[in-house]
Amino acid sequence: MKLNRLFSILVSILMVLVVFLNCGKKEEAADEAAGNPGQELYLQNCSSCHGETGAGDGPAAASLNPKPRDLMSAAKDWKNGATAEGINKTLQEGISGTGMVAYKHLGDESLKQITDYVMSLRK
Ligand code: HEC
Repeated sequence: MKLNRLFSILVSILMVLVVFLNCGKKEEAADEAAGNPGQELYLQNCSSCHGETGAGDGPAAASLNPKPRDLMSAAKDWKNGATAEGINKTLQEGISGTGMVAYKHLGDESLKQITDYVMSLRK
């Protein structure tokens, strides 16, 4: 009888521990994604052309003419300007006749996060 009680207490403690540890894991994953949503979006949508570091050397870059912009390059070489406004315009409208299409479908909030990330690459 006594052993039985001890056992059920042990099981309860174990269950609480399992629930607790699982919550921790979930929070960790969410934290990682929330760490830099702009970077996440950039890697998903832009790095195939602009490269993982933004140098314009992604795997698809070789076949494009004009080439994807080196996002660290001098502002004078940019068509819409290397400002937050310019980058936002590029993402909203694309640059017609080039591989740079519009990313309006991602939504204003995501475009702002990507723009912030691109600006951070230029620092
Ligand atoms: C299919 C390849 C491709 C993808 C994907 C792509 N781009 Fe581009 N991007 C280009 C090309 C090509 C140019 C150069 C256009 C030109 O010279 O007129 C360019 C130019 C740019 C420029 C410079 C605009 C200027 O003012 O000159 C920015 C900023 C930019 N891209 C950001 C992005 C971001 C951010 C993403 C992801 C949301 C992205 N691009 C996805 C091909 C791509």
